[in-house]
Amino acid sequence: MNTFNIEKLLRSNIRDLEPYSSARDDFEGTAQIFLDANENSFGSATEENFNRYPDPKQKELKNAVAQIKGILPEQIFFGNGSDEPIDLLFRAFCQPQKDRALIFPPTYGMYKVQANINDTPVDEMPLNEDFSLPIEKINQVINPQIKLMFICSPNNPTGNLIDKSAIISILNFFKGIVIVDEAYIDFSPEGSMVKEIENYPNLVVLQTFSKAWGLAGLRLGMAFAQKSIIDVLNKIKYPYNINQLTQQQVLQALNKTAKMQAMVAEILIQRSWLENELVQIKGIEKIYPSDANFLLVQVFDAPFLYKKLKEAGIVVRNRSSVILCQNCLRITVGTKTENQQLVKQLAYISQTLNVKSI
Ligand SMILES: Cc1ncc(COP(=O)(O)O)c(C=O)c1O
Repeated sequence: MNTFNIEKLLRSNIRDLEPYSSARDDFEGTAQIFLDANENSFGSATEENFNRYPDPKQKELKNAVAQIKGILPEQIFFGNGSDEPIDLLFRAFCQPQKDRALIFPPTYGMYKVQANINDTPVDEMPLNEDFSLPIEKINQVINPQIKLMFICSPNNPTGNLIDKSAIISILNFFKGIVIVDEAYIDFSPEGSMVKEIENYPNLVVLQTFSKAWGLAGLRLGMAFAQKSIIDVLNKIKYPYNINQLTQQQVLQALNKTAKMQAMVAEILIQRSWLENELVQIKGIEKIYPSDANFLLVQVFDAPFLYKKLKEAGIVVRNRSSVILCQNCLRITVGTKTENQQLVKQLAYISQTLNVKSI
């Protein structure tokens, strides 16, 4: 039985914090004349008006997302991308230079960056060779100083899902917070862990509108958890962290689920096409199975190939310097035309080479 105690876990200054109360927090209801927030009552210097502060609680958007996800609005936090809740979790739970976070490289780089920004030491335990969680070892390193554990599933940059039962077993013994980052979950055959927030008070699930929904430019990330954690994030966020345009546009997008699903289906078709084509190219040594919208590809000389592709105007991500990813490129699945051009260029580069390892 996990004895998770959020009050004990919180930094004392956050537990005792009197949060800022904005004009739009203070007044709820309808009125004709708003003279409470020092806005410009005349309008905006744009065609559409943005002169009013947006809803700090994003009520309409939360109601809509709650319905889609099958959870309650008070179990949702919206951030300026998923990076905002990651940062806020450090600020809320990690006393700088004292508390720690545990991550499993190779993984999404922002966990460590946010830890560093928040002066929180990070324990790094590499994934197994097959990119699964080193579950037996985790038990041995857990200590009360570790407040946050980040599990990315499907993982970036490796592309694989992390076994759900392994995550559940951690949720059962770890008394800190387990953050499961599901930025790429819509591309995977496995369902989200969002329904598990009901059962685990120490679980935070992150998702984003930046990938499957195609809304990276709007910056909307989501954290799902029990109300006690969501209340903490709301208490310390910037009052108007989600702007009006983002709230409006995402609400509209939510009525276009079919378009999102069609794009995901096309990305999956393109992912298999790309996989089939890439294996035939000389110098491409391994394509890791992917549950995401990218492929991790091991090549004979990643820095060289990266450079050659860049010269041809194609930019991919060189992950060679990352643990367990030696000579690996991470390639996002593009449109059919983009993928064809990539394959053509890679085939051309490989033909012009006299590579010993081929
Ligand atoms: C695993 C993972 N989490 C989160 C993010 C960031 O998403 P957002 O655009 O919502 O900040 C990314 C972006 O690439 C990612 O790969």
